[in-house]
Amino acid sequence: MFESEIAKRKTFAIIAHPDAGKTTLTEKFLLFGGQIQTAGAVKNNKINKATTSDFMEIEKQRGISVATSVMTFHYKEKWVNILDTPGHKDFAEDTYRTLTAVDSVILVVDCVKGVEEQTERLMEVCRMRNTPVIIFVNKMDRDGKDPFDLLEELEAKLNIGVHPMSWPINGGKDFKGVYLLHNQSLNLFESSKTKVADDVVKINGLSDPQIDAILNAKDASKLRDDVELIDGVYGELSHNDYLSANTAPVFFGSALNSFGIQELLDTFIEVAPNPLPRATTKREVEPNEAKFSGFVFKIHANLDPKHRDRIAFLRVCSGKFERNKNFKHVRLEKQLKFANPYMFLAQSKEVMDDAYPGDVVGLYDTGNFKIGDTLTEGESFLFKGIPSFSPEIFKELINTDPMKSKQLEKGIQQLTDEGLASLFVQELGNRKFVGTVGELQFEVLQYRLEHEYGAKCRFEPRSIHKACWMSGEEVDLKDFMKYRQTNIAYDKDQQPVFLAETAFILRMAEEKYPNITFHTTSEFKV
Ligand code: G4P
Repeated sequence: MFESEIAKRKTFAIIAHPDAGKTTLTEKFLLFGGQIQTAGAVKNNKINKATTSDFMEIEKQRGISVATSVMTFHYKEKWVNILDTPGHKDFAEDTYRTLTAVDSVILVVDCVKGVEEQTERLMEVCRMRNTPVIIFVNKMDRDGKDPFDLLEELEAKLNIGVHPMSWPINGGKDFKGVYLLHNQSLNLFESSKTKVADDVVKINGLSDPQIDAILNAKDASKLRDDVELIDGVYGELSHNDYLSANTAPVFFGSALNSFGIQELLDTFIEVAPNPLPRATTKREVEPNEAKFSGFVFKIHANLDPKHRDRIAFLRVCSGKFERNKNFKHVRLEKQLKFANPYMFLAQSKEVMDDAYPGDVVGLYDTGNFKIGDTLTEGESFLFKGIPSFSPEIFKELINTDPMKSKQLEKGIQQLTDEGLASLFVQELGNRKFVGTVGELQFEVLQYRLEHEYGAKCRFEPRSIHKACWMSGEEVDLKDFMKYRQTNIAYDKDQQPVFLAETAFILRMAEEKYPNITFHTTSEFKV
C-alpha cells in the first residue's frame, strides 16, 4: 500500500559508551545529509557531562534535547530517521526503550578503549531483539588497539560475528587511511572537520603499484599481508547474516575528522533494513498494511511549570498516520485525535500532516499515554517488546506529608508511566519501592513530585539486589509467592516480581524452586 514510502525509510539509533563519539558521528551524518551546515550544532544540545551532579541542569538540557530526540535527514533519496539516545548512564533505560523503536543500530566503539561497559549492555539489548548492527571503530587518529585484537574483542564480548568492511593502515599519528575491502579502493586520511565526502582512490586490487606509490614500502607490504589474512578468515559478507544479526559489518574511521563517514553511510543506506514487521499480542503487523498502528516508546515531560505538557514519541509501525484523524488508544479503549502532531527535522520540529512506517511522531499529551501504549485504526492489539529491566538501585517511597497522599499517589504513577523510574507495589501492605538505574532519578522524582504535584516525600534505601519476573507452572508460582510473600510486589503492568535481597537469596530461591525461572527483564521467551 505504502511500499514506496516504506522502501525509502531507514530508522536506526547510534549507540555507544559515553565519549566514544556518538554525538560527533550523528552530527557528521546530518552534515552529510545537508541538514545542518556547521559542525557543533548537535553538540550544543548534548547533556554536558561535566555537570552531571546538577540534575536540574541535566533536565534542562534534556528539555532542549527534545528537538534532537529524533533527527530526520535525506540522503541519496532515502529518508533516514536517527533516534537519539541519552548518553548519561543514569538514563540507560530510556536508551533501551528507544532501541525497541528502531530497525537497526550503528555501534560506535573507541579504538583506544575497545568494548566498554555500556557498549556491552547496549549490545545485550540489541541481541535480545536480533537488531542488525553495523560497528564503527572511531578515533583512528589516536593510537589505539591492534585492529585484529579489536575484532577479536568485539566478537568475544559482544557475542556477534564481525566482518571488516574496511581495513586501517596504521593508526594514531601514522594513520594513513583505510583500504575498502568490498570495492578495493584506498580511502586516504586527511584531517578535516567539515568535509562531506571521502577522498577515495580506486585501485585495481592489492597488486596495483599505485599502492606502493601512495604508501611507503613497509605500509604497503603490511596492508597486503593483513588483507590476505582477512580474506582468508572472513570471505564475503552475507547480507542475510547481517540482517539476522549474526554478523556485524565493521568500519574504521574518525568521526571528528569526517573520515570514513561516507562509506559508512553509503553502506548503511544500502544494507540496513527498511521498517520491519512487528509482533503484537494478536498477530504480526506488516508495515505495508493499509491501517495505521504504532506505539509509544518514550515520553518527554516539560519541566517548565508554565508548560506542563508532555510529548509522547510514537513509532509508526503500519499504514499512514494522519493529523486530525481518530485513532484508537487500545489500553484506554478511547478514540483520540491529534491536531498538532510533530515531526522532527534535525533541530526543528514541525507540525506534520502524515507519517509512514518507520517515522516517529511527537504527540502532545495531557496524561493519556504511558510507555508501551498502542494506537491503531480500530483493531485491538498491543505491540510487544517494550521490556522493563531490573533496576540497579531500589528505594522505598515514604510519604512525608500525609495530607497530600492522593497527590503523591498520582504523581508517582504518572512519573513512572513516563518511564523515569520503575514502581513496584508490595503485595502486603501496599509499600512502594522505586527502582532506577542511577541516583539521579531519585532527585528528579523528588523535585518533580514536589513542584508538579505538591507532594512531599523521601526515599529510603532498601537492600534489594534485583527485581525478577517469574515464569513457570501456576502451582509452583503460587507456592513460591506465598512462601516469599513479603518480597513479592507488582510492576506497572500488574506482573508479580520477586524482589530478591541478595544474589545469594536469589540463588537459594532458584535451587528451592527449580521449576521457576527468574528473569531480570520483563520480556522473556517462555
Ligand atoms: P559521545 O556522544 O559518544 O559521548 O561522544 P562525543 O561525540 O561527544 O565525543 C567525545 C569526545 O571524543 C569529544 O571530545 C570528541 O571531539 C572526541 N572525538 C570524537 N570523534 C573523534 C575522533 O575521531 N578522533 C578524536 N581524536 N576524537 C574524537 P571532547 O574533548 O570531549 O569534546 P569537544 O571538546 O571536542 O567537544
